[in-house]
Amino acid sequence: MATTDNRMNIHVVAACPRLLDSPLNESILKRAQERDLVKIHVHDLRTYAHDKHHQIDDYDFGGGPGMILKPEPLFLCFEDLFQRFDLQGTPVTLLTPAGPVFDQKKAIQLSLRKNLILLCGHYKGIDERVLEAFVTEELSIGDYVLTGGEIAAVVVIDAVVRLLPGAINDIDSAEGDSFQSGLLDFPHYTRPSELRGRKVPEILLSGDHQKINDWRREQSLQRTRERRPDLYAEYLENN
Ligand code: ADE
Repeated sequence: MATTDNRMNIHVVAACPRLLDSPLNESILKRAQERDLVKIHVHDLRTYAHDKHHQIDDYDFGGGPGMILKPEPLFLCFEDLFQRFDLQGTPVTLLTPAGPVFDQKKAIQLSLRKNLILLCGHYKGIDERVLEAFVTEELSIGDYVLTGGEIAAVVVIDAVVRLLPGAINDIDSAEGDSFQSGLLDFPHYTRPSELRGRKVPEILLSGDHQKINDWRREQSLQRTRERRPDLYAEYLENN
Protein backbone atom coordinates (compact mmCIF):
# COMPACT_ATOMS: atom_id res chain seq x y z
CA MET A 1 0.00 0.00 0.00
CA ALA A 2 1.36 3.42 -0.91
CA THR A 3 1.90 5.97 1.82
CA THR A 4 0.91 9.63 1.67
CA ASP A 5 4.60 10.41 0.93
CA ASN A 6 4.44 9.20 -2.66
CA ARG A 7 0.79 9.93 -3.17
CA MET A 8 -0.02 12.17 -6.10
CA ASN A 9 -2.20 15.20 -5.39
CA ILE A 10 -4.44 16.51 -8.12
CA HIS A 11 -6.12 19.87 -7.66
CA VAL A 12 -8.94 20.76 -10.00
CA VAL A 13 -10.30 24.29 -10.10
CA ALA A 14 -13.77 24.21 -11.57
CA ALA A 15 -16.77 26.46 -12.13
CA CYS A 16 -18.98 23.34 -12.32
CA PRO A 17 -17.39 20.96 -9.80
CA ARG A 18 -20.33 18.58 -9.76
CA LEU A 19 -19.50 17.55 -13.32
CA LEU A 20 -16.52 15.72 -11.83
CA ASP A 21 -18.39 13.86 -9.08
CA SER A 22 -19.48 10.69 -10.76
CA PRO A 23 -16.47 9.96 -13.01
CA LEU A 24 -14.02 10.46 -10.15
CA ASN A 25 -15.93 8.09 -7.91
CA GLU A 26 -16.19 5.00 -10.06
CA SER A 27 -13.99 2.12 -11.07
CA ILE A 28 -10.21 2.55 -11.23
CA LEU A 29 -10.27 6.23 -10.21
CA LYS A 30 -12.26 5.39 -7.12
CA ARG A 31 -9.99 2.49 -6.23
CA ALA A 32 -6.83 4.52 -6.73
CA GLN A 33 -8.11 7.07 -4.23
CA GLU A 34 -9.11 4.35 -1.77
CA ARG A 35 -5.62 2.89 -2.11
CA ASP A 36 -4.22 6.35 -1.37
CA LEU A 37 -2.28 6.45 -4.64
CA VAL A 38 -3.85 9.80 -5.42
CA LYS A 39 -5.89 12.45 -3.69
CA ILE A 40 -8.13 14.49 -5.93
CA HIS A 41 -9.09 17.88 -4.54
CA VAL A 42 -11.91 19.58 -6.42
CA HIS A 43 -12.11 23.31 -5.70
CA ASP A 44 -15.34 25.12 -6.42
CA LEU A 45 -14.45 28.47 -7.96
CA ARG A 46 -17.67 30.00 -6.68
CA THR A 47 -16.50 29.73 -3.07
CA TYR A 48 -13.83 32.30 -3.96
CA ALA A 49 -16.36 34.82 -5.29
CA HIS A 50 -17.13 37.01 -2.31
CA ASP A 51 -19.76 39.33 -3.77
CA LYS A 52 -23.40 38.93 -2.83
CA HIS A 53 -24.24 36.64 -5.77
CA HIS A 54 -20.94 34.72 -5.86
CA GLN A 55 -20.50 35.84 -9.43
CA ILE A 56 -17.66 34.14 -11.29
CA ASP A 57 -18.23 35.46 -14.80
CA ASP A 58 -18.84 38.80 -16.48
CA TYR A 59 -19.18 40.48 -19.86
CA ASP A 60 -16.34 40.55 -22.35
CA PHE A 61 -14.73 44.02 -22.40
CA GLY A 62 -14.86 45.17 -25.98
CA GLY A 63 -18.15 43.40 -26.64
CA GLY A 64 -19.17 40.10 -28.14
CA PRO A 65 -21.30 37.20 -27.00
CA GLY A 66 -20.45 34.91 -24.10
CA MET A 67 -19.23 35.40 -20.57
CA ILE A 68 -15.65 35.49 -19.31
CA LEU A 69 -14.44 33.98 -16.04
CA LYS A 70 -13.62 36.90 -13.73
CA PRO A 71 -10.05 37.28 -12.52
CA GLU A 72 -10.57 38.02 -8.79
CA PRO A 73 -12.01 34.61 -7.75
CA LEU A 74 -9.26 32.85 -9.70
CA PHE A 75 -6.50 34.98 -8.17
CA LEU A 76 -7.90 34.33 -4.68
CA CYS A 77 -8.23 30.62 -5.44
CA PHE A 78 -4.65 30.14 -6.67
CA GLU A 79 -3.19 32.27 -3.89
CA ASP A 80 -5.08 30.16 -1.38
CA LEU A 81 -4.11 26.81 -2.95
CA PHE A 82 -0.44 27.71 -3.31
CA GLN A 83 -0.30 28.67 0.34
CA ARG A 84 -2.54 26.03 1.90
CA PHE A 85 -1.12 23.06 -0.02
CA ASP A 86 2.42 24.40 -0.37
CA LEU A 87 2.21 24.38 -4.17
CA GLN A 88 4.43 27.34 -5.09
CA GLY A 89 6.25 26.50 -8.31
CA THR A 90 3.78 23.77 -9.33
CA PRO A 91 2.77 24.03 -13.01
CA VAL A 92 -0.82 25.12 -13.62
CA THR A 93 -2.46 23.38 -16.57
CA LEU A 94 -5.38 25.07 -18.27
CA LEU A 95 -7.81 22.80 -20.15
CA THR A 96 -8.68 24.64 -23.32
CA PRO A 97 -9.23 23.77 -26.99
CA ALA A 98 -6.43 26.28 -27.72
CA GLY A 99 -3.75 24.05 -26.13
CA PRO A 100 -1.60 21.31 -27.64
CA VAL A 101 -3.46 18.02 -27.93
CA PHE A 102 -3.16 15.64 -24.97
CA ASP A 103 -1.71 12.23 -25.81
CA GLN A 104 -0.30 9.14 -24.10
CA LYS A 105 3.20 10.64 -24.00
CA LYS A 106 1.84 13.62 -22.07
CA ALA A 107 -0.16 11.30 -19.79
CA ILE A 108 3.06 9.46 -18.91
CA GLN A 109 4.86 12.75 -18.21
CA LEU A 110 2.06 13.99 -15.96
CA SER A 111 1.90 10.66 -14.12
CA LEU A 112 5.47 11.28 -12.91
CA ARG A 113 4.61 14.57 -11.21
CA LYS A 114 3.86 14.79 -7.50
CA ASN A 115 1.21 17.50 -7.89
CA LEU A 116 -1.09 18.48 -10.72
CA ILE A 117 -3.15 21.64 -10.83
CA LEU A 118 -5.82 21.60 -13.50
CA LEU A 119 -7.80 24.73 -14.28
CA CYS A 120 -11.03 24.12 -16.14
CA GLY A 121 -11.85 26.85 -18.61
CA HIS A 122 -15.49 27.73 -18.93
CA TYR A 123 -17.97 29.91 -20.72
CA LYS A 124 -16.36 31.96 -23.46
CA GLY A 125 -12.97 32.24 -21.87
CA ILE A 126 -10.89 33.39 -18.92
CA ASP A 127 -9.59 36.86 -18.15
CA GLU A 128 -6.14 36.90 -19.76
CA ARG A 129 -4.49 38.23 -16.59
CA VAL A 130 -5.11 34.86 -14.93
CA LEU A 131 -3.20 33.15 -17.72
CA GLU A 132 -0.34 35.63 -17.41
CA ALA A 133 -0.13 35.27 -13.65
CA PHE A 134 -0.67 31.55 -13.10
CA VAL A 135 -1.07 29.33 -16.15
CA THR A 136 2.13 27.59 -17.21
CA GLU A 137 0.79 25.14 -19.79
CA GLU A 138 -2.36 24.45 -21.78
CA LEU A 139 -3.89 21.16 -22.87
CA SER A 140 -6.69 20.29 -25.26
CA ILE A 141 -8.26 16.83 -25.42
CA GLY A 142 -9.05 17.19 -29.12
CA ASP A 143 -10.12 19.51 -31.88
CA TYR A 144 -13.68 20.18 -30.79
CA VAL A 145 -15.20 22.60 -28.31
CA LEU A 146 -16.74 21.38 -25.06
CA THR A 147 -18.89 23.57 -22.84
CA GLY A 148 -16.07 23.67 -20.33
CA GLY A 149 -12.83 22.11 -19.22
CA GLU A 150 -14.33 19.87 -16.53
CA ILE A 151 -14.91 16.88 -18.79
CA ALA A 152 -11.50 17.42 -20.37
CA ALA A 153 -9.98 17.40 -16.87
CA VAL A 154 -11.70 14.07 -16.18
CA VAL A 155 -10.17 12.64 -19.35
CA VAL A 156 -6.69 13.79 -18.34
CA ILE A 157 -7.10 12.54 -14.75
CA ASP A 158 -8.34 9.15 -15.94
CA ALA A 159 -5.45 8.69 -18.38
CA VAL A 160 -2.90 9.75 -15.74
CA VAL A 161 -4.20 7.95 -12.66
CA ARG A 162 -4.44 4.55 -14.34
CA LEU A 163 -0.68 4.81 -14.98
CA LEU A 164 0.17 5.21 -11.28
CA PRO A 165 1.85 2.08 -9.95
CA GLY A 166 -0.78 0.00 -8.15
CA ALA A 167 -3.80 1.60 -9.87
CA ILE A 168 -4.36 -1.35 -12.18
CA ASN A 169 -4.16 -4.81 -10.66
CA ASP A 170 -2.29 -6.46 -13.48
CA ILE A 171 1.06 -4.74 -13.54
CA ASP A 172 1.56 -5.41 -17.23
CA SER A 173 -1.82 -4.12 -18.23
CA ALA A 174 -1.00 -0.43 -18.76
CA GLU A 175 2.23 -1.33 -20.53
CA GLY A 176 0.30 -3.27 -23.14
CA ASP A 177 -2.08 -0.38 -23.85
CA SER A 178 -2.64 1.01 -27.30
CA PHE A 179 -0.19 3.92 -27.77
CA GLN A 180 2.09 2.98 -24.90
CA SER A 181 4.24 1.07 -27.40
CA GLY A 182 3.49 3.53 -30.20
CA LEU A 183 1.15 0.97 -31.81
CA LEU A 184 -2.56 0.26 -31.55
CA ASP A 185 -3.62 -2.72 -29.46
CA PHE A 186 -4.15 -6.16 -31.02
CA PRO A 187 -7.59 -7.86 -30.93
CA HIS A 188 -8.66 -9.64 -27.75
CA TYR A 189 -11.02 -12.57 -27.19
CA THR A 190 -12.46 -14.33 -24.17
CA ARG A 191 -14.67 -17.41 -23.69
CA PRO A 192 -16.54 -18.98 -25.38
CA SER A 193 -14.11 -20.01 -28.09
CA GLU A 194 -16.96 -20.14 -30.60
CA LEU A 195 -20.08 -17.95 -30.70
CA ARG A 196 -22.73 -18.11 -33.45
CA GLY A 197 -20.20 -19.64 -35.78
CA ARG A 198 -17.51 -17.02 -35.03
CA LYS A 199 -14.35 -18.68 -33.84
CA VAL A 200 -11.48 -17.28 -31.82
CA PRO A 201 -8.29 -17.45 -33.94
CA GLU A 202 -6.82 -20.94 -33.48
CA ILE A 203 -3.40 -19.64 -32.56
CA LEU A 204 -4.70 -18.03 -29.34
CA LEU A 205 -5.84 -21.46 -28.12
CA SER A 206 -2.55 -23.15 -29.03
CA GLY A 207 -0.71 -22.43 -25.77
CA ASP A 208 2.39 -21.53 -27.81
CA HIS A 209 3.32 -18.17 -26.25
CA GLN A 210 6.00 -17.30 -28.77
CA LYS A 211 3.59 -17.78 -31.66
CA ILE A 212 0.85 -15.89 -29.83
CA ASN A 213 3.17 -12.94 -29.19
CA ASP A 214 4.27 -12.92 -32.84
CA TRP A 215 0.64 -12.98 -34.01
CA ARG A 216 -0.35 -10.17 -31.65
CA ARG A 217 2.56 -8.04 -32.74
CA GLU A 218 1.69 -8.57 -36.41
CA GLN A 219 -1.94 -7.62 -35.70
CA SER A 220 -0.82 -4.44 -33.89
CA LEU A 221 1.42 -3.47 -36.78
CA GLN A 222 -1.26 -4.16 -39.36
CA ARG A 223 -3.97 -2.28 -37.48
CA THR A 224 -1.76 0.73 -36.91
CA ARG A 225 -0.67 0.77 -40.56
CA GLU A 226 -4.29 0.62 -41.76
CA ARG A 227 -6.04 2.80 -39.20
CA ARG A 228 -3.43 5.30 -38.09
CA PRO A 229 -0.81 5.80 -40.78
CA ASP A 230 0.40 8.87 -38.86
CA LEU A 231 1.26 6.75 -35.80
CA TYR A 232 2.71 4.02 -37.97
CA ALA A 233 5.11 6.45 -39.68
CA GLU A 234 6.17 7.78 -36.29
CA TYR A 235 6.67 4.24 -35.03
CA LEU A 236 8.88 3.35 -38.01
CA GLU A 237 10.96 6.45 -37.43
CA ASN A 238 11.58 5.56 -33.78
CA ASN A 239 12.16 1.82 -34.13
N1 ADE B 1 -12.61 23.12 -23.12
C1 ADE B 1 -13.46 23.21 -24.14
N2 ADE B 1 -13.12 22.38 -25.13
C2 ADE B 1 -11.98 21.74 -24.73
C3 ADE B 1 -11.13 20.77 -25.32
N3 ADE B 1 -11.35 20.30 -26.54
N4 ADE B 1 -10.07 20.36 -24.62
C4 ADE B 1 -9.82 20.86 -23.39
N5 ADE B 1 -10.58 21.78 -22.78
C5 ADE B 1 -11.66 22.21 -23.44
